[in-house]
Amino acid sequence: GAPSPQNPAISSVIRKKLMGYVGFANLPNQVHRKSVRKGFQFTAMVVGESGLGKSTLINTLFNTTLYPPKEPLHPSAERPKTVAIESIGADIEENGVRLHLTVVDTPGFGDFVNNDDSWKPIVENIESRFDSYLEQENRVNRLKVVDNRVHACLYFIQPTGHSLKQIDIEFMRRLHTKVNLIPVIAKADTMTDEEIANFKQRILSDIQHHNIHIFQAPTYENEDEETIAEAEEIASKIPFAIVGSNKFVGTPDGRKVRGRAYPWGVVEVDNEEHCDFVKLRQMLVRTYMEELREYTNDVLYENWRTEKLVSMGVAQDSTVFKEINPAARLQEERVMHEAKLAKMEAEMKMVFQQKVQEKEAKLKQSEEELYARHKEMKEALEKQRNDLEDKKRKIESGRPITPEKNATGRRKGFLRT
Ligand code: GTP
Repeated sequence: GAPSPQNPAISSVIRKKLMGYVGFANLPNQVHRKSVRKGFQFTAMVVGESGLGKSTLINTLFNTTLYPPKEPLHPSAERPKTVAIESIGADIEENGVRLHLTVVDTPGFGDFVNNDDSWKPIVENIESRFDSYLEQENRVNRLKVVDNRVHACLYFIQPTGHSLKQIDIEFMRRLHTKVNLIPVIAKADTMTDEEIANFKQRILSDIQHHNIHIFQAPTYENEDEETIAEAEEIASKIPFAIVGSNKFVGTPDGRKVRGRAYPWGVVEVDNEEHCDFVKLRQMLVRTYMEELREYTNDVLYENWRTEKLVSMGVAQDSTVFKEINPAARLQEERVMHEAKLAKMEAEMKMVFQQKVQEKEAKLKQSEEELYARHKEMKEALEKQRNDLEDKKRKIESGRPITPEKNATGRRKGFLRT
């Protein structure tokens, strides 16, 4: 039957000592195979003004039509009043590895007359995903944790060739502590190579000027040359200048490529000479997917969680921490138990000392009493001896014993008459 506390089989298992090979050596392999079978969860968010090519890029990036083609918005049609957030999920399989990809779209961003608060619903969305993760982490069964946190945010910059707009800066300033920001220059095929190079410089200096933290390709020290070169190559392309297209077009030399055809030629999406699409894809899907997930978990989520706990009043009452941190709770219980033991010991010592003192006092008292009695008896005996010796001397000297005179001068004749 199923093992249970009543089942004797299980207690014999526990009592057995582990000798030799257990099979831990296979664990990494097992974990790896399991995660390959279960697949990875990755959530990307796209933000940018309408018409910058967000849906097109996502479809291009993951080589699927994640986004069904949209009906163009009729001029008289009403625009959505707020920044609405939509998310679309898809399972993508590549070389037997399944990736559950979720793309969070934010249509309507920056489309209003007053865009001051455009970032707000996006921050709220990101934080509510942190909230749901935290809630799952605190559940008893933590095996089925679904990670819906946003691991990367592609921020689309309009290809103006000037500098960043106020809305861009505001958005990045509000979001850079909550999400991995990856700025991209949209529709890069509308600019010349030189314009793109200058625009990139301006964007980077704006970002630096406003102390905005964008996702950094990790710097490796003890890696092989190839890895270092790849990391440097990717870093040098940020902000990625991208061109998106799901359509195949013919090139003058007769190839069929994903790209955009113009009277002056074809811009190829997958050609690194033409745009940074390949580098962006490489960074997201191949090189840094794990880093993006890790940074989200270890830094962004962790900072948010700490801040949240502090704002919930951990300072005034540490129970929040204990509820969340079993180690802290155990430690506290141990300290309390030790304090209790120490108190009991001190009490026992005190009682013992008191008893000893009482006994000592009693002994001392009886000793004094004995000594006093002994002294008394000794004195009485001494007196008797003196008296007798007195009498003896008088008898020996032959004098008759005369009674002593009393105070009134009369003889006390009652002793010997
Ligand atoms: P919303 O859904 O309204 O927020 O727009 P979006 O940002 O998703 O843009 P979408 O992908 O729908 O593209 C808008 C238009 O731009 C379409 O006509 C696309 O064909 C075109 N487009 C997309 N990517 C590019 C690009 O890289 N270069 C050029 N020139 N046009 C593009």
